[in-house]
Amino acid sequence: MAAHKNGSLIHIINRASVLFKNGSYRKRILFTSLKPVQCQRRTVSSIGDRNTNLTPHLSSNLAGWSYKELYELSVKDSETFWGSIAKERLTWIKPFDQVRDCEITSGKINWFLGGQLNVSVNCLDVHVAKHPDRVALVWERDEPGTEVKVTYRELLETTCRLANTLKRHGVNKGDRVAIYMPVSPIAVAAMLACARIGAVHTVVFAGFSSEALAGRIQDAQCKAVITCNQGVRGGRFIDLKPTVDAAVKNCPTVQHVFVAQRTTNPTPMGKLDIPLEEVILVLHTFYCAMEEVILSLSSGTSHTALLNGPYIGWVTGHSYVVYGPLCNGATTVLFESTPVYPDPGRYWETVQRLGINQFYGAPTAIRLLLKYEESWVKKYDRSSLKTLGSVGEPINHEAWEWFYNVVGDGRCPLVDTWWQTETGGVCIAPRPAEEGAEIVPAMAMRPFFGIQPVLMEEKGKPISGNDVSGALCIGQPWPGMARTIFGDHKRFVDAYFKPYPGHYFTGDGAYRSKEGYYQITGRMDDVINISGHRLGTAEIEDALDEHPAVPETAVIGISHDIKGEVPFAFVVLKQDPSLNHTAVIKELRGLVATKIAKYAVPDHFLVVKRLPKTRSGKIMRRILRKVAMEQTGDLGDVSTLDDPSVVTEIIKAHAQYK
Ligand code: PRX
Repeated sequence: MAAHKNGSLIHIINRASVLFKNGSYRKRILFTSLKPVQCQRRTVSSIGDRNTNLTPHLSSNLAGWSYKELYELSVKDSETFWGSIAKERLTWIKPFDQVRDCEITSGKINWFLGGQLNVSVNCLDVHVAKHPDRVALVWERDEPGTEVKVTYRELLETTCRLANTLKRHGVNKGDRVAIYMPVSPIAVAAMLACARIGAVHTVVFAGFSSEALAGRIQDAQCKAVITCNQGVRGGRFIDLKPTVDAAVKNCPTVQHVFVAQRTTNPTPMGKLDIPLEEVILVLHTFYCAMEEVILSLSSGTSHTALLNGPYIGWVTGHSYVVYGPLCNGATTVLFESTPVYPDPGRYWETVQRLGINQFYGAPTAIRLLLKYEESWVKKYDRSSLKTLGSVGEPINHEAWEWFYNVVGDGRCPLVDTWWQTETGGVCIAPRPAEEGAEIVPAMAMRPFFGIQPVLMEEKGKPISGNDVSGALCIGQPWPGMARTIFGDHKRFVDAYFKPYPGHYFTGDGAYRSKEGYYQITGRMDDVINISGHRLGTAEIEDALDEHPAVPETAVIGISHDIKGEVPFAFVVLKQDPSLNHTAVIKELRGLVATKIAKYAVPDHFLVVKRLPKTRSGKIMRRILRKVAMEQTGDLGDVSTLDDPSVVTEIIKAHAQYK
């Protein structure tokens, strides 16, 4: 197993076998023409390990500016600011002739007009030219100590072969491709291959059900799917191909399914299926010329916006595991396993073994790990760590303190980064500022360059001054923001630009402290965040409502120590004395697990006779939340309810449920 320690992709590929179309196995000989590369041991990073001192790297004519000066410039003269950075930091096929043309009220967002670039060139070719044998990816596989290193040169070649394979099978510029794969170098190469030929990828978390996958394929009208036979997590093999088979049955746009082999276990191959390693192998040309496009990464993630898996299926993986670190020539870690496999020391053992210096994680993982003895952390050497990051949901104080003091020994800045799929990258974080700038625990604090936070009151008036709360909006466009929702521009405008004209609406609430720092208070709509998975409650209700014995349901999120939030389902059942409630609830659990995913199954089911509704039929979730959290002393105004007596009914049912 450990023959690949010196860090070459060839080893792992040579070690395993490939299933060929005729059913036989052959040793993988992918990339036989490449020499194994002896990689130097470098410290590695999950964010990027070069630009620890940000200011001098922004661009040469902005070197030496303070955070305050840079921030002022970025919002007062964003054309100069972004124009100068884009020119210097990116490699353009054709330079842009206009920095921006935006009209935020109508949702017109255009940056770098006339310019042409290819993101895969910026991630790969520019680095291969300078340091081909630098490690681009460390694939931290499920079994500790079996990591595989992939150099920039190897990743470019894999990407080009994959890109050529896609082209040969009719995938062209503008086509959509679904990637349903475990975290692996081949998944990263698949993303970059799409980018290279100008295809749009939608990375779907390899844990989603066939229905959830089919929905995403249908929405994006994907022409191809790239997948694996199985995934491996926490010592278990997880079948992926059968899920794809079930999904594509209902997706007529899919012409090909490319199947890579993560394990040696055979998988039945059908009409649409193409063994990925085999077709890559027959290609004689490595290099694939790039298409001249500006790639929008939004595709599936922003268009479905409510359901994201962690890992590279999550936008955090896109921006901060793949595109960001690679554009910066850093080494990035692809973590295939779980935080508790084989034991709760896994992350810290990995930090020690790989010399990781930036660690970016979700609060839900931190909340899980802090339950265990500190010795799981302390027994490993974490002196390589420089910065800790938190993302995805508000980080509570207990988690912040543990992360900072136990993991970081009180010496690594812990940055709570606030952003969204739609924003493309971090918007509010404590450390766009100089080294040593103040960090307040559990607070995202300072706007990043170009981000102008505005707090709004309900009627759409900006709130001035400090020590105030409101709806968080952003006052002007920035280059990373989403430009549309795929196939539904009107929805894009309605959701983000209509609520507060002249501003981008984030959907989150925020507090501005006395000092002028920002703290995110959570979603303002009905989206819940279970262990970092953002999920619309409507999606769970949809699944539940399919049950023939269920006329209607309402799902809300309630807080949970470890997962952040968990779903609580209020279920109305058919009036039928013969109905076995326990059996129905068991079936409902199964429905959610198969239609969405296991983590989406509500922790609580409360059978009620009716739901609290307004006269226009809108369910008043605010009341359900109060009941579920046992805060019925303060129900607020119930006068708009169609029949206020329903509240007493539900409180009674909840008391019996407890
Ligand atoms: O509600 C905010 C929460 O997650 C939402 C964005 O989710 P998603 O698009 O899946 O994630 C993109 C990557 C962050 C936000 O609207 N959120 C994200 N980060 C934070 C956060 N809430 C509080 N603090 C954060 N640092």
